[in-house]
Amino acid sequence: MYPYDSIRDYVADLEARGKVLKIKEMDQDQYEMTALTYRLKDRFKDKSPAFLVERTKINDTWHDSPVIGEIFNNFGMVAQCFGVEDVSDNQSDMYDASVSKILSYMDKDFKWQKIEPVTVDAKDAPCKENIVQGDDVDIYAFPWIKNNPGDGSQYISAGSVIMDDPEMGRNVGTYRMQVKGPRKVGVYFTNQSHGYKYMMRAAERGEEKVPVSVAVGIDPISWMMSSTRLADVDEDEFAIAGGFRGKPVELVKSETNDLYVPAHAEFIIEGEISMETEEEGPYGEMLGYIGKKIWTFCIDIKTITHRAKPWVYNLWPGIGGAYLTLPWEVAHFARLKKIMPSLVKLHTPPDTASVVIACIDKRLPGEGIEAGMLVLGYRMIGFGKKMVIVLDKDIDPTDLSRVMHAVGTRWQPDPASLVVKQSFHIPLEPSSREMFLSSKIVIDATRQLPGEGGPDVYPDDNRTAVEERAPEAFEMVDRKWDEFFKK
Ligand SMILES: Cc1cc2nc3c(=O)[nH]c(=O)nc-3n(C[C@H](O)[C@H](O)[C@H](O)COP(=O)(O)O)c2cc1C
Repeated sequence: MYPYDSIRDYVADLEARGKVLKIKEMDQDQYEMTALTYRLKDRFKDKSPAFLVERTKINDTWHDSPVIGEIFNNFGMVAQCFGVEDVSDNQSDMYDASVSKILSYMDKDFKWQKIEPVTVDAKDAPCKENIVQGDDVDIYAFPWIKNNPGDGSQYISAGSVIMDDPEMGRNVGTYRMQVKGPRKVGVYFTNQSHGYKYMMRAAERGEEKVPVSVAVGIDPISWMMSSTRLADVDEDEFAIAGGFRGKPVELVKSETNDLYVPAHAEFIIEGEISMETEEEGPYGEMLGYIGKKIWTFCIDIKTITHRAKPWVYNLWPGIGGAYLTLPWEVAHFARLKKIMPSLVKLHTPPDTASVVIACIDKRLPGEGIEAGMLVLGYRMIGFGKKMVIVLDKDIDPTDLSRVMHAVGTRWQPDPASLVVKQSFHIPLEPSSREMFLSSKIVIDATRQLPGEGGPDVYPDDNRTAVEERAPEAFEMVDRKWDEFFKK
């Protein structure tokens, strides 16, 4: 089935791997789905399945449109999206395989391979199976989720917002949308987003309304492109998605504007963004805290087109972990590697926002702190970066117990640390007094050389000694693994 054309195709393969939990009904007025999302994570960690709920109660009404959640909650799922063969639950292998796939689509100038999208007729576009227009539009007819009792209301949490600009072309971006009325939703563009830039350009041209179409429930690679800044402002996310897929994305024209939208989407919400802003929020955000109220633009909805019995795709920011944004992390790695050849891996653990791990092939004294300074000084858009842990290359950054073992045993807080009193940081940081500012630390947990104050002879790490001196031992056990567990 790869590459997947729709979220349904992707979920069908997830199901074939036994990774979809099907549930008849849940009462989201009592936050049942939210508790399930936490419990799956508590009990299965990175082996937890996606879930599909057939009926959902919201605002005292039972809805028959299914809700799909947690479809990107481990590196096996990411690997599946990129067509990695032999997908498994081994996070380390799936991480490495996904990173290699992603890097293979990038050239030496950091440009992504592209295949332009193609246009299909409305009759061949499942997103047009139902068309609801004008006063018949009622966004409340579908089970958009209120994730948390602290949220301002229900949200469309997984929409790809499609806009156009005469000079910059098409933009596709994932921006949260608060449900505000039957034909009104907010749309939150941070001031660093391309969406915000498009709004400002339209304002300069004197436009009062900006046409928009929002796709919910699209193919997984287009969804990743919408959620990560791989496309520069003059590049098309759908063309980059085509490059990754090795097959063009199919688009169809919107009903009420000239924007082209993914033909296989579950929903297309068409409307106009007005220039006035309104209060929005609060919302349980990606760092795991309920954010403050903010001011945002709103969309006046004109038309909704949707598949028969459309699937509402929902995200619970701060619970499942940031797996969806792996291509972004890889883009940052490739750029940093160019200026820091000793960099072997760069990883932001999905559940520990603001911690970045850099593994280096250390040869000279001072390289650990130097690597930390380079990572700290590089603006990793989209990622918090308050603590950089620098490790030797024998540590797998996806294995947090190994990471903490190295920190616990290889790190001397003095002198192998660097504290920066204040520097630029993402606006969501809950512990900052001032928005955009945070203090930062580099923890150099590489083995310190004698010149750096380390011991004259560093003891071997037990595990590394086996991995390096008896590699066949691990190969033997892996080969016989299934036999050991045969009943
Ligand atoms: C689940 C999720 C929700 C997001 N919500 C927002 C949001 O509400 N506002 C925003 O500006 N960026 C948000 N982002 C980040 C943007 O999607 C990301 O920066 C993307 O590159 C935006 O497209 P752009 O580069 O064309 O601006 C979110 C990302 C994810 C994965």
